[in-house]
Amino acid sequence: MKKASTLRDDFPILNQEVNGKPLIYLDNAATTQKPKVVIDRVSSFLSEENANIHRGVHHLSMNATKAYDQARSAVAKFINANSDNEIIFVRGATEAINLVANSFGKSLLEKGDEILVTEMEHHANIVPWQLVARETGAKVIPIAITDHGEIDLNDFESKINKRTKIASFIHVSNALGTINPAKRMIQILKAKDIPVLLDGAQAVAHQAVNVQDLGCDFYVFSSHKLFGPDGMGVLYGRNELLSKMSPYQGGGDMIEVVSFDGTTFREPPERFEAGTPNISGAIGLKEAIDYINDLGWDTIEKIESSLLKYCTEKLSSIPSLKIIGTAQKKVPVLSFTMGSAHPHDIATILDSKGIAVRAGHHCAQPLMKRLGVSATTRASLSFYNNVEEIDQLGEALEQVSKIFEN
Ligand code: ALA
Repeated sequence: MKKASTLRDDFPILNQEVNGKPLIYLDNAATTQKPKVVIDRVSSFLSEENANIHRGVHHLSMNATKAYDQARSAVAKFINANSDNEIIFVRGATEAINLVANSFGKSLLEKGDEILVTEMEHHANIVPWQLVARETGAKVIPIAITDHGEIDLNDFESKINKRTKIASFIHVSNALGTINPAKRMIQILKAKDIPVLLDGAQAVAHQAVNVQDLGCDFYVFSSHKLFGPDGMGVLYGRNELLSKMSPYQGGGDMIEVVSFDGTTFREPPERFEAGTPNISGAIGLKEAIDYINDLGWDTIEKIESSLLKYCTEKLSSIPSLKIIGTAQKKVPVLSFTMGSAHPHDIATILDSKGIAVRAGHHCAQPLMKRLGVSATTRASLSFYNNVEEIDQLGEALEQVSKIFEN
């Protein structure tokens, strides 16, 4: 097992100064940093192995196809899909949700039908459904959350009715860190035959995901939030559903036969991967998954839960600071406000000390409205962060507190 203290060394970007101070990267919910093995693998693929896939009988093309297929298998295994064919490579979680909303949602939804989401969704899990609702006459219905930032399970059950045709909700909140009781919610929905999409963009980097155990129909995530390259993402869909779904985009590689009299389409996953895909992205994602598997979830969860506890205590000791999102089960994401200090000003002061955080609405405006704030400052941690960095954050925030006191 790797020592926690040496994990930082795996991430070359962390070894630099920003504004004359050692970089403290606490914006992992926006994107995670990449271990050297991922950077090297993408580089070696592009410098020594690059070719298009599924199109050539030459050596490079056949090897690239093999590497791309191996990436699909690695993802399938990583989230315990039943088969590699249930893994569709897309641009990111956002594209995956748009694919499901347009292909699955549009064929299912009729006027008056309801799409269940929650008040804590990222815009990526609201807007695609609103667009489909506009076309079909369906409605997007938000499930209420509590003041702690947890799903109100009574409201959840009360919102399910015979018009509910699909539920789509976030596994882990990007803005609050809340881990939702997804398995329990899915059981309730599936007992009523309601298909479920789980947005795992923030979950996959913090905990093992087992789609069969969760029981969801669709699961989506982005590679860049899992220590892999950006522009790359995954849609998991149960084969039974994917095989009945129409293509989302048309183009090369997704067809069987094309003629002006009509075109036939390949089975999933190819049906949903029109055009040349992000080959180096898939190969980089596999390397990121291998890295995570080597490290092990036990190690990651152990480090992260102690960082979350330490950071929560540290921030709670600052009198003017209010943590937004105090769910019982959380990943190490800490959103906060500080009296009259604007979150962007806080983030700018932190940046001057080399500390990277995000400030704003975190692509979750309805959530901000529900919690009565226009924005928050958010420190989001990963296993490569450490207590010394949290101490620096605490010290910097004490100074912020003093600036805004006067
Ligand atoms: N969804 C990303 C975030 O929460 C970009 O910052």
